[in-house]
Amino acid sequence: MTFFNSNRDVKMPKLIYGTAWKKEETASLVELAINSGFRGIDTACQPRHYNEAGVGLGIERSKIERKELYLQTKFTPFGGQDPDDCPYDPKASIEDQIITSLGVSFKNLKTDYLDGLILHSPLSTLSETLRAWQVLESFVNDKKVRQIGISNCYDPEFFKEIYLKASIKPSVLQNRFYRDTGFDKELREFCHMEKIIYESFWTLSHNRDFLETEYILSLAKKYSVTPAVILYRAVSETGIIPLCGTTSEEHMKEDLLLEEFNILPEEVDKIMEKLTNLIN
Ligand SMILES: NC(=O)c1ccc[n+]([C@@H]2O[C@H](COP(=O)([O-])OP(=O)(O)OC[C@H]3O[C@@H](n4cnc5c(N)ncnc54)[C@H](OP(=O)(O)O)[C@@H]3O)[C@@H](O)[C@H]2O)c1
Repeated sequence: MTFFNSNRDVKMPKLIYGTAWKKEETASLVELAINSGFRGIDTACQPRHYNEAGVGLGIERSKIERKELYLQTKFTPFGGQDPDDCPYDPKASIEDQIITSLGVSFKNLKTDYLDGLILHSPLSTLSETLRAWQVLESFVNDKKVRQIGISNCYDPEFFKEIYLKASIKPSVLQNRFYRDTGFDKELREFCHMEKIIYESFWTLSHNRDFLETEYILSLAKKYSVTPAVILYRAVSETGIIPLCGTTSEEHMKEDLLLEEFNILPEEVDKIMEKLTNLIN
């Protein structure tokens, strides 16, 4: 698998394995994903949706060297946590919440550094979000985290404000990639301009009908890969890193073929044009 280099010169694999909703299967699926060839893992310190300790166990079992892996997790604000299973004290200051959450992540993931730490969503105001961002920045300065990013940030003006005011600029924007957000066209253009990596989720699960269109099926046939691989390859050619949440060994192996064929630039353009012109 080849890599994109982020604006902090961090090597990021072109397909990242997503670990949400895998519950007690998490460790075995992470081990399987790594042993199948994935070199990037996305998780979160959010027990409601992620078994972060299972991710750590899966990585350990895979026997891969830590430095061969791009490992990113998230700080999830209290609004996204299960109030009965929150990894930090919600009454603590936002600074302490984030510091505690990172400590839990290090323990869960059996590591002393992260390649990426993502703010799971903006806080309720820009100033609160920037306050949280400064804590993330302090981890980069302390060399605990190599790069930082934000997720579920769909307002281009809000994102640009964070970018402008940040001392350490976002390296990653992780968002839903689907028609209801217009495929984040403006945000993606900004990311491209500022060398921020756009990570997509819902890439397959919310674009299922597109995978069955005649054009995608014809390319899948032409290159002897699945429609999912055609879409992953096309978005990857535009600089996006898709998160892949499969639980199937067969799909893992198929998806990792995304770089194994020579798609034509005009085919990529046509796929992206057809996809991003879909509007609800
Ligand atoms: N930041 C956030 O708020 C946020 C929110 C949601 C997700 N995420 C991240 O994104 C990751 C992916 O989640 P997603 O919602 O975007 O899911 P996805 O990867 O778009 O879709 C996964 C679903 O598609 C199916 N599928 C069918 N063919 C597939 C193929 N060839 N390859 C992969 N999947 C295939 C899978 O079934 P099979 O299991 O049978 O393959 C599964 O049901 C999550 O694990 C998480 O890390 C982040």
